[in-house]
Amino acid sequence: MRFDGKVAVVTGGASGIGRAAVEILAARGAAVALIDLEQDAGHETVDGIRKRDGKALFFSVDVSQPRQVQVAVNETRASFGPVDILVVSAGIQRYGTALTTSDEQWAEVMSVNLNGAWYAARACLPDMVGRGGSIVNVASVQSLATQYNVLAYTVSKHAVIGLTRSLAMDFASEKVRVNAVCPGTVDTPMLRWAASLDPNPQSVYDACARMHPLGRIAQPEEVGEVVAFLAHDSASFVTGAAWTVDGGLLTLIGGTPRANLD
Ligand SMILES: NC(=O)c1ccc[n+]([C@@H]2O[C@H](COP(=O)([O-])OP(=O)(O)OC[C@H]3O[C@@H](n4cnc5c(N)ncnc54)[C@H](O)[C@@H]3O)[C@@H](O)[C@H]2O)c1
Repeated sequence: MRFDGKVAVVTGGASGIGRAAVEILAARGAAVALIDLEQDAGHETVDGIRKRDGKALFFSVDVSQPRQVQVAVNETRASFGPVDILVVSAGIQRYGTALTTSDEQWAEVMSVNLNGAWYAARACLPDMVGRGGSIVNVASVQSLATQYNVLAYTVSKHAVIGLTRSLAMDFASEKVRVNAVCPGTVDTPMLRWAASLDPNPQSVYDACARMHPLGRIAQPEEVGEVVAFLAHDSASFVTGAAWTVDGGLLTLIGGTPRANLD
């Protein structure tokens, strides 16, 4: 699955799932622009790709700021040519219910997870309209179900599926495909941060591993590979999909009495 001659923009490309997608796309021939807040990790990722003779650029950009996103995409186009692929992976997780989520937390989560995805699509779509392109939004199993105490995150991730479907329909006739991946638990800094909020972080990893029928959490590359497939022409008849990458998590209805399993 090669991406020679393709230009990709990846938000959240300095860490976790986004970084895995960056590494896969660059290793298979794409010129990749990373958009992220994390400057050290962003530069380090780009340096590694260039050392392997790949093409990469880093933009220190806050995806919740539409002007910054637009400038980064403009500079990508000036350096590499029009954008063919957009991967939206920048995201944040906050905890709270309807009674404990502050206005600021709600606005922060929406502005990064939802508005950021829209701003990136809006900046890249003009390059794709008519000539074709592929957008992959990194959503979540929390786009399709929820946990306790994650109101803003769940709402933002459900909305990302709405964004994905709307974009997919509005631009299908322009040869632009738009899909989402919905990962289960993935071993990234976001998960490590969430686990660190528990007095026993290992118990969080163990519980997450147990709840996936495959019996473990995912590595970022396992999501990155599905992102790459959806971004590639191999997925030429796939659009508007919310593709679970969840080790079977959402397939299982819990609560089977143990006796019925024996
Ligand atoms: N890790 C999981 O278990 C998991 C599961 C399902 C979905 N996801 C989703 O996957 C995506 C990637 O998460 P990850 O687990 O790789 O986490 P991560 O923290 O490793 O990566 C997220 C990246 O987004 C960047 N980012 C955050 N806010 C930004 C902003 N305002 N502007 C620019 N960049 C910003 C961060 O700096 C970071 O590099 C997120 O959208 C997340 O919600 C993660």
